[in-house]
Amino acid sequence: DVVGIVQNAACGDVLQLYVNVEDGRIARAQFRTFGCAPAIAASSMLTEMIKGATLQQLHELKKEAVADALGGLSPMKMHCSVLAVDAVKAVLRNYADQTEIPNETT
Ligand code: FES
Repeated sequence: DVVGIVQNAACGDVLQLYVNVEDGRIARAQFRTFGCAPAIAASSMLTEMIKGATLQQLHELKKEAVADALGGLSPMKMHCSVLAVDAVKAVLRNYADQTEIPNETT
C-alpha cells in the first residue's frame, strides 16, 4: 500500500520499506536494502518490529529501539538504525499524502 525510500547521504546506503496497512495497523512489511550488514539487519528487525503496530506506534519508534532489538550497534553504525526510522517516517508521510490523514511527523 505504501512505500518509503530513504538514503543516507554520507554512506549512500538505501532502504526501501514496503507496508500494507489494514485497520490502522501494519499488516505486512517488507524491505529491500542496499548497504552495509547493520543496515540490512536493522531493516529486517524493523519489519519484525512494526508488524501489527498501529500508525501511532510508528510515530513513536526510535532508533534506540531498533538498535536495542539488534542487541546494540556500535557508535559508528548507529546511523544504520536511523536509516530504518527514517524509512518509517517516509512511509508515514507517504501514507498521509495518499489518505490525506494529518501527518504527525512534520
Ligand atoms: Fe550507512 Fe550502514 S554504513 S547505513
